[in-house]
Amino acid sequence: MRKRIRLLTGDRPTGSLHVGHYAGSIKNRLELQNSGKYDCFVFIADMQALTDNAFNPRKVRDSVKELMLDYLAVGLDPKKCTLFVQSGIPELAEICMYYMNLVTVARLQRNPTVKDEIKQHNFEKSVPAGFLVYPVSQAADITAFDAEIVPVGEDQMPVIEQTREIVHAFNRIYGDVLVMPRGVMPENILARRVPGIDGQAKMGKSIGNCIYLKDDADTVRKKIMSMYTDPNHIRVEDPGDTKNNVVFKYLEIFGRDQKKVAEMKAHYQRGGLGDVVVKKYLIEEMEAFLAPIRARRQEYEKDMDKVYKIFEEGTKRARKIAKQTLKRIRKAVGVEYFKGEEE
Ligand code: TRP
Repeated sequence: MRKRIRLLTGDRPTGSLHVGHYAGSIKNRLELQNSGKYDCFVFIADMQALTDNAFNPRKVRDSVKELMLDYLAVGLDPKKCTLFVQSGIPELAEICMYYMNLVTVARLQRNPTVKDEIKQHNFEKSVPAGFLVYPVSQAADITAFDAEIVPVGEDQMPVIEQTREIVHAFNRIYGDVLVMPRGVMPENILARRVPGIDGQAKMGKSIGNCIYLKDDADTVRKKIMSMYTDPNHIRVEDPGDTKNNVVFKYLEIFGRDQKKVAEMKAHYQRGGLGDVVVKKYLIEEMEAFLAPIRARRQEYEKDMDKVYKIFEEGTKRARKIAKQTLKRIRKAVGVEYFKGEEE
């Protein structure tokens, strides 16, 4: 039997997942999982979350639990997918040590994603060393599992590019040891960037403009009712703008009936369609996809022991693979000296 292609991806635990995460990466990941074509690994990158939250360990710890629930709630299925926690696999840190020598500080500083994040965090004057090298640690995450496919959001592509450079350098120097991964983004370009409910280009926890997967129906309704539309669409009869109108952007991304969405768009542009009608329709569409997720989350929340068990077992399984890869890496680098090294 042919070995299935290995797929791996993960998220930093720094809060709950929102609908931007869902459209931008989770949905794609579920489709890949359910296609049955891949040997899937999905993990919680808690060590990476600590690289920019070192002084807020509580937030990271609490978010790990949230993310476990979010993962199971959206339909990541432990029967089809190995779910694990990064800090449970210390081998990743050792692998990272070998890779750090293959990357220059200048190259890390040039990474556009890292650059943006440094700005966002006001790290310009004093960036934590661990944060600057997180793309190297991410290369360890990916290569430790021989992952070929890495489904990610758009912002992560430069980080995957760095992994590819590291793999290239490693294999050139030490022999053909690492598998070359490839980042894959959702095909739907619109879904790659879900705007905030306030009209800002990006949905962000710190901005407070998110709809979370765990928000209750009433919260979702209120958030949609407060969404940015077209400030010049004052009377119902006025022609309205659908381009920078968040409600229409969401309908394009999350609406199940795109024919109806297109008709509503045309009507709104002509004039005669009020914001409230469109918002009510969006509430229906969002509820259709959020309600089952919310229900599953509540079920799992009742049995946290089971949730932790799922991740514990997944971490054990994942660690076995990382150990084997580390052995290969140590041998290639030439740092195994003693016969009895195995415990
Ligand atoms: N950087 C990713 C994020 O911010 C998390 C992550 C860590 C990751 N290691 C990974 C994603 C390996 C894909 C593959 O969400």
